[in-house]
Amino acid sequence: MRAKHFLCQPRNAMLAMLGSLLMTTVPAQAQDQPAPFRWGAASAAYQVEGAINADNRGRSIWDEYLDDKSLAGPGMSGATAINFYDRTQYLKDIALMKKLGLTSYRFSISWPRIIPDGVGPVNPAAVAHYRQFITDLKAAGIKPMLTLYHWDMPLSLARAGGWDNRASVDWFRHYAEVVFDNFHDQVDLYVLVNEPLVEHAMKLLAEQRMAGKPGQFAIVPASPDLPGALRTFNHLLLASAAAKQSFDARGYKGQLGLALPLFPTLTAPGASAADRDSATLADGIMNRWFLDAMYKGRYPADVLSAAQAVGGDMDIRADDAATIGKARFDYLGINYYAPLFIRRPSQASGAGYAAESFLPEGTYAAYNGPVRPDQFRALLNRIRTDYGNPPVYITENGAGFPDDDKKVKGGVPDVQRCKYLVEHIDAMHAAMKDGADVRGYHVWSSHDNLEWLFGYGSRFGIIHVDFNTQARTPKLSALVYSDIIKGKPVTTADCHAQ
Ligand code: GAL
Repeated sequence: MRAKHFLCQPRNAMLAMLGSLLMTTVPAQAQDQPAPFRWGAASAAYQVEGAINADNRGRSIWDEYLDDKSLAGPGMSGATAINFYDRTQYLKDIALMKKLGLTSYRFSISWPRIIPDGVGPVNPAAVAHYRQFITDLKAAGIKPMLTLYHWDMPLSLARAGGWDNRASVDWFRHYAEVVFDNFHDQVDLYVLVNEPLVEHAMKLLAEQRMAGKPGQFAIVPASPDLPGALRTFNHLLLASAAAKQSFDARGYKGQLGLALPLFPTLTAPGASAADRDSATLADGIMNRWFLDAMYKGRYPADVLSAAQAVGGDMDIRADDAATIGKARFDYLGINYYAPLFIRRPSQASGAGYAAESFLPEGTYAAYNGPVRPDQFRALLNRIRTDYGNPPVYITENGAGFPDDDKKVKGGVPDVQRCKYLVEHIDAMHAAMKDGADVRGYHVWSSHDNLEWLFGYGSRFGIIHVDFNTQARTPKLSALVYSDIIKGKPVTTADCHAQ
């Protein structure tokens, strides 16, 4: 693939350049210029911070999963991670990101640090830590994109049912108000919650492992889990709407959205009509459920009736979806990794909902699924045509491959990740040319880190981390990404080992 990035500079960046030219003659218009495109990377508190006992931090459900129960295997704990809570360390990381040219950093703050028991007193040491971090980030010219919730639920609240409990809407509203009151003067771009769908799948996997089974990581909810999944998604969406309402009522200025993991659903050649029905319903559960509520104020009827047929209490009240629609989130955060091939499981009985994902033989795939940049472009265009072209931030995009992260002569030639990024950024640019309103892009992830229940074995970073010494090495993908940010012409041919 030989597309030239310099030919398709982001539209907003072009407009911003034009704006700065116009500014000298027509200063009044300067205020209306769109903000420059944000080029960034993303991370999450539990995956990078370590220091799980520092500064009166409370316990999170992830301490229980990893430190107490070793669900990711021995030694796979968050106790040290990549030592990112340590200012000496993170200052070096910020300097490295600055050198690469990043202008945006998406990170999460930890709820159990800010409010150790989830709902009680605020922890001033944690607030001070993150205020210092944001100050340090901005001093390097990197804008913060602050995620409030990236899965580290305070343990006390997880024990009270977590998102399964409708009271979570009030817990989260309170936490969000604390965050807004303490950071609104520093931050104007917020991710309220990250990936409800994947968090739910991770929780079910953790529960299976706790029960002594190896467990299955099922992003597409299995039929018996469907009503429970929709129940937690509804609460998470309501909690986000409540937080947005509080932000607006306080008169703070900023953009609020959710980071959704969107998965185009595909069927393999030779798929049956039943397979295609399963793919449509899986799309409804994973994508339309969230998008229809947020942009149309209603839940998709096909998903509701499939769940009703399974039975179980979804705790969805008549006006819930309308409440979510009325929240009017400011942008859509998209985490895109891969599409999913869907089929109806061969052992499924009856006519009801049944869907599973699979990898057709011969498919080129990363850890998170088939490598399909064309589906990224199609997804962005679908958001444009079906959901009114909202402002979009790519809140995560990236990949990990077995054997792609070996150190060779002091460098890390992660050729596969490098090509993945070039092709996906190219696809994003193509969608922007089609008219999609994309405002920023964040690679998952800035650094190798703790990949939840999969431990430290699955690397996703553009910066290599030696987990024993905490040494950092920018990989080939980081150097090529840096060139893209700087506007240099880049193709996949640039992704070669030195
Ligand atoms: C996402 C998640 C991230 C990271 C990434 C890589 O689902 O939000 O925290 O784990 O996947 O697999």
